[in-house]
Amino acid sequence: MQRIMAKIGIFDSGYGGLTILEAIRRELPQYDYLYLGDNARAPYGTHSFDVIYRYTLQAVKYLFSQDCALVILACNTASAKALRTIQQKNLPSLQGGAGGRLVNVLGVIRPTVEAVPAITKTGHIGILATPATVSSESYVLELEKLSVSKAVCQQSGLYSVSPQGGLIITQQACPLWVPLIENGEHLNPGADYFVDLYLRQILEKDPQIDTLILGCTHYPLLLPKISQWIRNNGKRFAASDIQVISQGYLEAKSLADYLVRHPEYASQLSQGGSCRYLTTENADRFSQSASLFLSSPVQAEHIDLE
Ligand code: DGL
Repeated sequence: MQRIMAKIGIFDSGYGGLTILEAIRRELPQYDYLYLGDNARAPYGTHSFDVIYRYTLQAVKYLFSQDCALVILACNTASAKALRTIQQKNLPSLQGGAGGRLVNVLGVIRPTVEAVPAITKTGHIGILATPATVSSESYVLELEKLSVSKAVCQQSGLYSVSPQGGLIITQQACPLWVPLIENGEHLNPGADYFVDLYLRQILEKDPQIDTLILGCTHYPLLLPKISQWIRNNGKRFAASDIQVISQGYLEAKSLADYLVRHPEYASQLSQGGSCRYLTTENADRFSQSASLFLSSPVQAEHIDLE
């Protein structure tokens, strides 16, 4: 029987998923990847559930049609709003459709949340994310599941718990961060205002926060400014040292682990070490920006999703 060879698809609304792709390729360089950025319709984070679900499903179907066996939703907004519905409602009918391949879709929120207990000392967690991710409460729900096993954490002294017994979670929507990045303005002086705005707001809400989750894959591209802000202002607003969690490394480790636990997927994957880039926007524009974000040349192709 002919061996079915498949790629790993990485999907985001725009450039943010490149931060995940880069980390995954560092961890698992042997596989072939197909990156898809729906830049023409970004940002997703201000859209409703129906729209985010519809766009994400179109992207997932497209990547399956291009021989991807696994699709990573390298987008918190899509993971929060569409992942569960796609897994439960759509995946069964998509399964086996493409040349008898096994297919699956994975998100980024769970692997991020699992890293929290080993990092926080105060148990006060801040989530910076898009309005859609914040309103979905996905991080809060996943973190609360962790709190259920708080006895384990208390025993190991990993973090202290609130009087109610759980983690203290504060969310902050940052609606203007993705547009800054999509428009290449994130390292310009104008971005400082919006970095200050959201960081100040979340730390004023809870000055005990010692762990800030960048709950949007675009946000690591703002990390130079976020780190600078914390160095300059952290002590004025926060009672303790602040650790910033960005997701690339966590997602890469999680995928590596998944492939070990699921050899039925790993064995379908081709190992040519390649990566192709697709965008729903202008291919030259994507190539230029992605080459800057990745610091290596990218030649993108334009596609339409529907
Ligand atoms: N990178 C996406 C995320 O992780 C950005 C969503 C958007 O386009 O607003 O949420």
